[in-house]
Amino acid sequence: MAKRAKKRTTAKKRTTKKTAARRPRQAPKMLSDLFLDTLKDIYFAENKIIKTLPKMAKAAQSKELAAAFNKHLRETQGQVKRLDQIFKMLSKPARGKPCEGINGIADEGAEIMKEFKGAPALDAGLLAAAQAVEHYEISRYGTLRTWAEELGMQDAARLLQETLDEEEATDRTLTELATSVINLKAEEEYRAAA
Ligand SMILES: [Fe+2]
Repeated sequence: MAKRAKKRTTAKKRTTKKTAARRPRQAPKMLSDLFLDTLKDIYFAENKIIKTLPKMAKAAQSKELAAAFNKHLRETQGQVKRLDQIFKMLSKPARGKPCEGINGIADEGAEIMKEFKGAPALDAGLLAAAQAVEHYEISRYGTLRTWAEELGMQDAARLLQETLDEEEATDRTLTELATSVINLKAEEEYRAAA
């Protein structure tokens, strides 16, 4: 019995080896493959952000912060359209690829909304979560813009730069809000309550 089982395993091994030998060799992955892969990554991230921003705007206590989130939501919808254009340039379907990086950052934001609900520091936490998203995007768009230039895709590089400029402007707005209103308010409310 044991002998027969051993025989079967050997036969299976032989078949696998044969199939592997017949399989055509995969083309080496190039910078253009990495570009498309990263494009799918940021496409997934932007669509995730479109779902998350309305929740953050609703949770924000400060009117200025809610307005900043709503403004960025409109910008993000435009950013997705730019990505659609780049997929078209590549003659590839616009499709996202699940990105654990943005999922993790979004989960952290959701945790803050839950744990700091009604607390003076809620807006400071929302701001920090939004800036983590912006920094992720700035990193991705900077990389994609550079790769587009290296691949001779000047039109794509221009579109990616436009989005990068918007992300950087949003990040500056969030920093201004943090230093001028929100962190200070969180601290004052804490002192008043003490
Ligand atoms: Fe974005």
